[in-house]
Amino acid sequence: MKIIMGCDHGGFELKETLKKYLMEKGYEVEDYGIHQYERVDYPDYAQKVGEAIAAGKAEQGILVCGTGIGMSIAANKVHGVRAALCNDCYSAEKAREHNNANILCLGARVLGSGLAQQIVDAYLGASFLGSYHTQRVEKIMALEK
Ligand code: RB5
Repeated sequence: MKIIMGCDHGGFELKETLKKYLMEKGYEVEDYGIHQYERVDYPDYAQKVGEAIAAGKAEQGILVCGTGIGMSIAANKVHGVRAALCNDCYSAEKAREHNNANILCLGARVLGSGLAQQIVDAYLGASFLGSYHTQRVEKIMALEK
């Protein structure tokens, strides 16, 4: 599975940790930045990663900022994106199973790196369940029209 990652300065350290973790697990990771600590505006990175996911350049995206809130609000403005802010493993699993999320947003100032890794595992290890969830996700996507 290919994953595109992005972050702002609030999420830089955790993004680096998770990138290494995912690459060691064998995932293909493309990093849309930031690549060194600098103060940036999170909507720029949410847009870049969101547009890439909507265009099918990778199966999943991961966005990290201080709280994960700004990234999730911004990424969900991009048509085709279903970004889920998950700061626990149960929500991460359900974001895939029920909502067919295609971007995971994390709050680096909320989570420790160990929990963040478990959340990523729960998210990437789960799959969309389809069935009656399909029409609900379709209704979400219809809101873009
Ligand atoms: C940056 O200071 C911070 O506002 C950002 O990382 C994020 O938490 C926004 O939602």
